[in-house]
Amino acid sequence: MKNEKINRKEFLKKAGFGLFSIPLIIQGCSTAGESQTPDHCGFTDSATEGPFFVSSSRESVNINFTKLPGKPMNVNGIVYGGKNGETPVANAKIEVWHADKDGIYYPTGDGDISDYKASEIALRGHVFTNEKGEYSFYSIEPGLYPGRRRHIHYKIIAKGHRELTTQSYWMSDRGSIREQNDWTDRNTEICRYVDFKQDGNEGVAGVFDIYLERQG
Ligand SMILES: [Fe+2]
Repeated sequence: MKNEKINRKEFLKKAGFGLFSIPLIIQGCSTAGESQTPDHCGFTDSATEGPFFVSSSRESVNINFTKLPGKPMNVNGIVYGGKNGETPVANAKIEVWHADKDGIYYPTGDGDISDYKASEIALRGHVFTNEKGEYSFYSIEPGLYPGRRRHIHYKIIAKGHRELTTQSYWMSDRGSIREQNDWTDRNTEICRYVDFKQDGNEGVAGVFDIYLERQG
């Protein structure tokens, strides 16, 4: 996938965006530790699915339906697609799964939901984008497990577009020792780092926009 990815400048040119319009069109991407200049990365890179994807998850805006303890977290954004990644995609299915606050997956396995008892399922589910391409889900902040930085897994399926399996990360982890020791998904583009902000008294919220390649 990496080799097929067009660079940012080419993407913007193909999409008909002038360079001076960049700050006006981009949401949710910024350059950590430097200025907060909005940026854009072209089509969203794929990342390994990992060993714990379970199919047939439930549709739920709140994927912490078992009420596990942790810091409340909201992730929201827009899925773009179309010929040049400029069009919001309605009805895209976004599968989400992540670890609990202690770095444990429920289940710690793969397969299908039907392979497990209901009590073994947590912190996974799916949502759909609305007519504006917008999505949002609520959960708790995932914890850490050995060898990985904090992350969330996604699988996005949208008609007419390539299926995308990817991961998002925490902007606050960017450049950290933990990231340097994470050999999964090296050279992550800046737009997959989510800049979480305080949301209410206890929670955090962040924006993760996703750009899908058209199929064919
Ligand atoms: Fe993971």
